[in-house]
Amino acid sequence: MVTFHKAQGYFQLQGAGFTYLLGVSPNGDLHHLYWGKPLSAAALKKLLAEWKKRAVETEHHISREFQRREFPDFGHNDLRTPAFQLEMADGYRISEFLYDSFQVLPGKPDFGPGPSSRVEEADQAQTLKILLKDKLQKLELDLYYTLYPTRNLLVRRTILRNRGPKPVSILKLASASLDLPPDPGPWRLVRFPGRWAKERQMKEGALQEGTLRLESRRGISSHEMNPFAMVTRGDADEEKGEVYGFALATSGNWLIETELFRDQTLRVNAGLNDFNFKWRLEPGKAFVTPECVMAYSTSGFSGLSFNLHRFVRERVIGGFWQNRPRPMLLNNWEATYFKFNHDKLLQIARAGKEAGLELFVLDDGWFGKRDDDTTSLGDWFVDKRKLPRGLRGLSDDIHGLGLKFGLWIEPEMVSPKSLLYKKHPDWCLHVPGRRRRMARSQLVLDISRPEVRDYLFEAIGKALEEARVDYVKWDMNRSLSEVGNETLPPNRQGELYFRYVMGVYDLMERLNRRFPKVLFEGCSGGGARFDLGILHYHPQIWTSDNTDGLDRIFIQYATSFAYPPLVMGAHISSVPNHITHRSMSLKWRALAALSGNFGVEADITKWKPSERKELAGYIRLYKEIRPIVQFGDFYRLENPYQSNRASWMFVSPDQKEALVFVFQVKTPKKGEKVKGLRLKGLDADKTYEFLGEGSKLSGKKLMKDGWLPKSFENPKGSYHCELYHFKTNS
Ligand code: DGJ
Repeated sequence: MVTFHKAQGYFQLQGAGFTYLLGVSPNGDLHHLYWGKPLSAAALKKLLAEWKKRAVETEHHISREFQRREFPDFGHNDLRTPAFQLEMADGYRISEFLYDSFQVLPGKPDFGPGPSSRVEEADQAQTLKILLKDKLQKLELDLYYTLYPTRNLLVRRTILRNRGPKPVSILKLASASLDLPPDPGPWRLVRFPGRWAKERQMKEGALQEGTLRLESRRGISSHEMNPFAMVTRGDADEEKGEVYGFALATSGNWLIETELFRDQTLRVNAGLNDFNFKWRLEPGKAFVTPECVMAYSTSGFSGLSFNLHRFVRERVIGGFWQNRPRPMLLNNWEATYFKFNHDKLLQIARAGKEAGLELFVLDDGWFGKRDDDTTSLGDWFVDKRKLPRGLRGLSDDIHGLGLKFGLWIEPEMVSPKSLLYKKHPDWCLHVPGRRRRMARSQLVLDISRPEVRDYLFEAIGKALEEARVDYVKWDMNRSLSEVGNETLPPNRQGELYFRYVMGVYDLMERLNRRFPKVLFEGCSGGGARFDLGILHYHPQIWTSDNTDGLDRIFIQYATSFAYPPLVMGAHISSVPNHITHRSMSLKWRALAALSGNFGVEADITKWKPSERKELAGYIRLYKEIRPIVQFGDFYRLENPYQSNRASWMFVSPDQKEALVFVFQVKTPKKGEKVKGLRLKGLDADKTYEFLGEGSKLSGKKLMKDGWLPKSFENPKGSYHCELYHFKTNS
């Protein structure tokens, strides 16, 4: 898969459906030659000949801005935004890293702590390591490229090593960087901005000259922008065209930066955010960046998502839950908020069990004296006023009903009104003498400190053990502020954001190891930490606090570009919705939840018997379709951001079954032609039967000519929805 063509001085990385070429210029600079569909011999020859002309630096033609570079350094005559920048002990900020050597490694090396895409057997992947050296300062840069034979993507990261006698400061160090060529252009960008309760909204537009920074400066991956973006060429869309995706496996401050240069070359740098970052690298030490997953598709967004979904399921998620169906849960948050007691919870759980649910989750409010969100974070011992028989008493009763038991925690936080804060006021992030600004009445524990992590590991571990939990919801409800740490020297304060997130990963890792069979669900005020880093530890994530059926269609649709439905917590809640106050039908709410990792978040004891009966029907249905929704392939059919309907489908891995979900999100204008749906992922040669209707159509016809479900022929208004189940016996 990785070949070095010595005579011509270039590397060829042959992926499942792409070629990636890197060249070493005559003076040793690393150049990006190509990333795209496999090339014919003639096209490769032409490309190499053009590169050879461009690659030469002479005194008269020295600007590196004419060159397409791979991991550009700073301080010479390429004045585009660099992949990295260092500050030497003497204060100079110029470096020059030139090619030294390479290695091709079976599998993937162990990069130490932090999330890493998985390789169990050495033959599952191959890794190219390129070593660049700055001889003057005795610095080494390793560029890693991991190829998985069946996936159309590359996993990249960088290591900087200081072999010199003096410390050096890292001001910026990307995980991946490359210059994509101008032709045939124009470049477009798809990004996923949002806010609380409206995470990951899809936005698309042409890139203009200049630099665009998609980033988080909040210490978490954020509601405001997801650490995933796609750049596309020309008229690429859902179905067709070239798409490049960049997904970061980091959960703190990140940056995906594009610079469209005057010649329409597009530079992309992706990795840790350089804003407010400075890392002191002592002699003999190395700094390892997080991973960047770079995916490629020639079949539009659809091909890219197909590939990323499988990658997340096979290589990001690991451990006990990797291929296990996820239980249908009932969470008490929207049902009771902080106001509950043992009996109330049991009543709700009993109703959940009767409806067919499998796991009961006790959310916020079970510890300290937490009757609202102003107190007790950090005091991870049970509130006996609410649960006189403790967590164990409740858990025993829940288990006794035949349900699994889950618990909410928010380890990274402390309430100033708590015993923990009284005892350790210095344990939160703070700057001496400055006001500690609260959000949701809470401060952030400085989890970069080992003693803070040890306390949490013990206190939370004890609670989880006592409660015999089967599931944990790990919440995190604010951004970081006053990011300072008195135990770090002044010249290391710029490291704190990254140290924080590495501390979070360390605690997650330790708790995963201690509770290997427990299912962890990530959460951050809904979906503010929806990224590949969290998914390494937590195999599912709460998508959004917004459980409104209509908004969920948009959020889940956009989330699906990078992340598979398996990992998206999707719950039915009561109406009017607690955030939007809208009342979508139970069927609509159910179909939205059936499209993800299904659950319920409501006091269903208050629902009418007819509603509970209907709910039980959806739960039975999910049990039946769960293997397809959670482990089948997902395809988007219609984009609610651009049309009056949203539709998507799931196909079982053996292509024998398919589920098509259709949502009329808006009423078409009078006279507007109602379009049919062209299905995807079916076996063209098989005949599929609609369950319930009995009519039969070939896979080929369904995919080529399309099909208009009857009840959508004449939409009378909005908010009609249906789920169609297809099967083939042949
Ligand atoms: C934010 C989460 O997203 C909610 O689901 C809930 O757990 C609350 N926090 C509890 O405080």
